[in-house]
Amino acid sequence: MSELKKITIKRPDDWHLHLRDGEVLNTVLPYSSRDYGRGIIMPNLVPPLKKMAEIIAYKDRILAALPAGHQFKPLMTAYLSDDTSADEIISGYQNGILSAVKLYPAHATTNSAHGVSSIQSVLPVLEAMQKQGVPLLIHGEVTDPAIDVFDREARFIDTILLPLMKALPELKVVLEHVTTQDAAALILEGPHNLAATVTPQHIFLNRNALFQGGLRPHNYCLPILKKENHRNSLTKAVTSGCDRFFLGTDSAPHPKNSKESACGCAGAFNALTALSLYAQVFEQENALDKLEAFTSINGPKFYQLPVNTDSITLIKQQYIVPNFIMTADDREIVPFLAGETLNWSILR
Ligand code: NCD
Ligand code: ZN
Repeated sequence: MSELKKITIKRPDDWHLHLRDGEVLNTVLPYSSRDYGRGIIMPNLVPPLKKMAEIIAYKDRILAALPAGHQFKPLMTAYLSDDTSADEIISGYQNGILSAVKLYPAHATTNSAHGVSSIQSVLPVLEAMQKQGVPLLIHGEVTDPAIDVFDREARFIDTILLPLMKALPELKVVLEHVTTQDAAALILEGPHNLAATVTPQHIFLNRNALFQGGLRPHNYCLPILKKENHRNSLTKAVTSGCDRFFLGTDSAPHPKNSKESACGCAGAFNALTALSLYAQVFEQENALDKLEAFTSINGPKFYQLPVNTDSITLIKQQYIVPNFIMTADDREIVPFLAGETLNWSILR
């Protein structure tokens, strides 16, 4: 029998992760902390995390939920809103509480009602962040209901991101979960201080997957999946070796009944499947030699942190995604691609 194909990479980090709180946190965290060294933890709890005391308390709850032996380090973010104080952000960053600040345009996505109403209203905070080198993580979609949902990222780049970068050319920016050829081109051509995270779903699926044989709520996330030409351009850019793309799963668990509903929540719980899917896409593109930079090196470089010292091994062995997982308080969570068979597993 021939040996199964294997690839060993430095332990990855997840630069965009939703862990939620309470029993959901306890249930989902181990699926990230077993494989990843660090995670940039999203602050869109209810209510959102804006104050340093709340952020420290949430970090403590994450650390308390870690299984014995897992070395995972949560890197915390603050939720930017019109009333955010520049002084609090800068001192939070200097004291090592914060790794970055997250900008949600108000009403762009799940739990973003308290987001930013306009760049103008947070300009003093962004100026202070530029001066201190604090990364700004952006959910890059306009929220005008008159703009087609498939065009909201491209419109955001033109009308908000480019003017912002002109006004604050040294601000460190991560455009989160990019989905379009417009974003891909911007990053490829862009300055050193502009990077992007890429989810597995946006390079693995196109928007047909939302409607395959019926409505597919577990493939619904924001930004929404795009047409094949966008998926393809993005995949080519990410597998090109450009060091300003890095792994951010946007793993975003919701209880099954909130997804399978007349008004289902946006978010794909991909913590179980993300690494297998990235490997599958990089392999399809003949770019497995570029996988480690994307998963484990480009992110720390951008955040000026050391690369993890230990490694994980991916093996080309089928992985059957579970149909569901249960929280201790009996809520069902359906993983992204539940029931499907993927080509790569993690050797544990
Ligand atoms: C995220 C969530 O559920 O918190 N949902 C999503 O579709 N990605 C929010 C976000 O990152 O936009
Ligand atoms: Zn997210």
